[in-house]
Amino acid sequence: MESYKKLLLANKAWVQDRMNVQPSFFEESSKTQKPEFLWIGCSDSRVPAEEVTGTEPGELFVHRNIANLVIHTDLNMLSVLQYAVEVLKVRHVIVCGHYNCGGVANAITHKHLGLINKWLRHIKDVYRFHDRELSAIPDGQARFDRLVELNVLEQVQNLAQTSIVQHAWQLEHAPTIHGWVYDLRSGYLKEIAMIKPGTPLDDIYRFEFDEADHS
Ligand code: CO
Repeated sequence: MESYKKLLLANKAWVQDRMNVQPSFFEESSKTQKPEFLWIGCSDSRVPAEEVTGTEPGELFVHRNIANLVIHTDLNMLSVLQYAVEVLKVRHVIVCGHYNCGGVANAITHKHLGLINKWLRHIKDVYRFHDRELSAIPDGQARFDRLVELNVLEQVQNLAQTSIVQHAWQLEHAPTIHGWVYDLRSGYLKEIAMIKPGTPLDDIYRFEFDEADHS
């Protein structure tokens, strides 16, 4: 059997399982969604957002890209963020990185990889911001692990600096922003940062909003 057919067969089995547990599952879930969480994670196939968090369909609004980056000119990410925050009114935004991230690994080489160089350039910037700390770590794996964490910390800051989040903090006193790292070696998530609504930012990033303002 061709590999892709396995997916379609598994889908049929999944529908049956769901219907056996809750006959109204699809009827209910087709009506609306009210997720409490936005997950911004890596595209890596080993970090399935719902599976590692034990969440069900309808609980996570998800955006994934290579190395879980929050780039302030990325219309895709910003559209997901705006919709999640302003329309769905999620209470928590989670940026989840993971150890042994291929995007981060490639960013710290000198390899020319084509278009993706431009995306991974943002991780090279993270390295430069934290060069002193990273260069002082002699062990290569430990330095790589720390860069994965620092990358998440930077993305958490990038989120808080968006006008979308700042405006929501003012209007709704939400969302809380979280930085997590998933450990492929153990399966555990590690909390490394949390920014509560209203936390002061570096002043240069602070926006003042008029009543009529939108993002
Ligand atoms: Co990755």
